[in-house]
Amino acid sequence: MAPPSLSQYLDCCATTPLAPEVAERMAVVQAEAWGNPSSLHGFGFAAAEQLERSRQAMAALLGCQQERVVFTSGGSESIHLALLGSAPPLELTNTSGDAPRLLISAVEHPASRAAAAALQRRGWLVQEVPVDRLGAIDLEAFERLLAPPTRLVSLIWGQSEVGTIQPVERIAALCRSAGVLLHLDAVQVLGHQPLRLAEMPVDLLSFAAHKIQGPRGVGALVVKPGIQLQPFIGGGGQEGGLRSGTEAVALVAGFEAALQLATDRLVVHGDCDPVAPLRDALAAELLAMPGVVLTGPDPRQSGHPARLPHHLSLLVHAGRGDWLNGRQLVQTLWREGFACSSGSACSSSGSAASAVLLAMGYESSAAAAGLRISLGPWHGSELLEQFPQALERARAAL
Ligand SMILES: Cc1ncc(COP(=O)(O)O)c(C=O)c1O
Repeated sequence: MAPPSLSQYLDCCATTPLAPEVAERMAVVQAEAWGNPSSLHGFGFAAAEQLERSRQAMAALLGCQQERVVFTSGGSESIHLALLGSAPPLELTNTSGDAPRLLISAVEHPASRAAAAALQRRGWLVQEVPVDRLGAIDLEAFERLLAPPTRLVSLIWGQSEVGTIQPVERIAALCRSAGVLLHLDAVQVLGHQPLRLAEMPVDLLSFAAHKIQGPRGVGALVVKPGIQLQPFIGGGGQEGGLRSGTEAVALVAGFEAALQLATDRLVVHGDCDPVAPLRDALAAELLAMPGVVLTGPDPRQSGHPARLPHHLSLLVHAGRGDWLNGRQLVQTLWREGFACSSGSACSSSGSAASAVLLAMGYESSAAAAGLRISLGPWHGSELLEQFPQALERARAAL
């Protein structure tokens, strides 16, 4: 089989290839600023200066203050730093004897679920806010649950499996008036909509570079002024004491370059992701096929809840009353040359039924049938013909 071209890679919510400009920038920074930023000599000074220039540029692109951007190894680590860092062990916080509560949604990424479980082991209560059939959180239930003992909320802004964008402005206002700390997992929204974080009453936000054609192994946590965090990696006290370990200066420069590219694309297209019209056209083609149904919000309808602009998620009917298993469909589509996902790449080794689709009210055979298609800026209209045909062949083969 000939190696598939990038135009057949439809799994950008899992990861993306490095943009050539990003690879070039990283090579330059690696050559010129390879020193340890903590060293007290010219090599170290060059690396430290480069790191701080990247931090400043990232802050400007995110619309926040530079001293508040903490670099990490990726989305999972940022989420853990946000949750574990803002929820100290109970004996330090608890004067009344009541356990504090963390609210998460029923459709969080496994990294947030793992961090929530760690808080539970520290004695915190963890409660899930239910979602509707489209994956949007139940705002009435959420508002009720914001009452004491809730101290912390962590929500996925753009859902990776079904694309639902939560109404974060409303959520942030509710948290602010209840005096509850809010962390958003913004890994999937980064680069797909403009972010002006200083204007948002959100306390902590997690990001990763590799979803936007940046390198793997680098992420960021934005910490709003006044928020005190406890580090969970100790050592040399780098990143303002919040994340010890010699800084990955070239990876950070790659993250900055990737975010600059994504931001430029949004600016040129009036703050909209230019891949959205292609995604909409692909949705129209696929949903016109018999037995193909959408999960998550309909991209053809405006209003709440919105959908990630590069994201499509489907269930495909076998034709005799059964849903095609998502993992088998992904494997068969790969034989047709297309790289898709059966949901979240991070959960693809787990049980067949998606916890996200189950939480949205799908029965188990449908919840095992999820197919995710996520586009990148390089995709073009050839997809509109090629992919539906490949899906039809895959369905026939199965
Ligand atoms: C919404 C969301 N949060 C967190 C993560 C974890 O990010 P990373 O793989 O960089 O640790 C991912 C990655 O798939 C994600 O999609």
